[in-house]
Amino acid sequence: MIRILVLNGPNLNLLGEREPEVYGAARLADIEAAMTSLAEEIGVELVFRQSNHEGVLIDALHEARETCHGIVLNPGAFTHYSYALRDAVSAIGIPVVECHLSNIHAREKFRSTSVIAPACAGQISGFGVTSYMLALRAAARLAKEVA
Ligand code: DQA
Repeated sequence: MIRILVLNGPNLNLLGEREPEVYGAARLADIEAAMTSLAEEIGVELVFRQSNHEGVLIDALHEARETCHGIVLNPGAFTHYSYALRDAVSAIGIPVVECHLSNIHAREKFRSTSVIAPACAGQISGFGVTSYMLALRAAARLAKEVA
């Protein structure tokens, strides 16, 4: 069975209460439930992790190279400056799809740079919860190609 890690970074545990006008009303648990339904439909298994700590996210990426075939990654604000996360994505050799609820290219200037995207298979940004659904479809397809 194809297994996909859904890895969320800092502050995404607060979805639903955090700036709902930017990130929407869905909580992380709602997103995970919607992804679980889609995963059943397309026949993949999901593992969910969230951390506010860069090192924990890096450890989760390293671990995934032994246990998962693809990754949906929302690095939160680490997107914009974490070379360590980018190096981890480059190091693990499994497809990673970068995912954002908001359109990072249409907000403050610092958000329009992702230092992680060049190491990813692609980036999906700006569709709210649907970003995660699209990212899951993309990661599952890539994972099936390499599995
Ligand atoms: C985000 C966008 C980032 O700029 C921000 O720091 C986040 C959430 C998004 O999903 O839109 O924490 O990754």
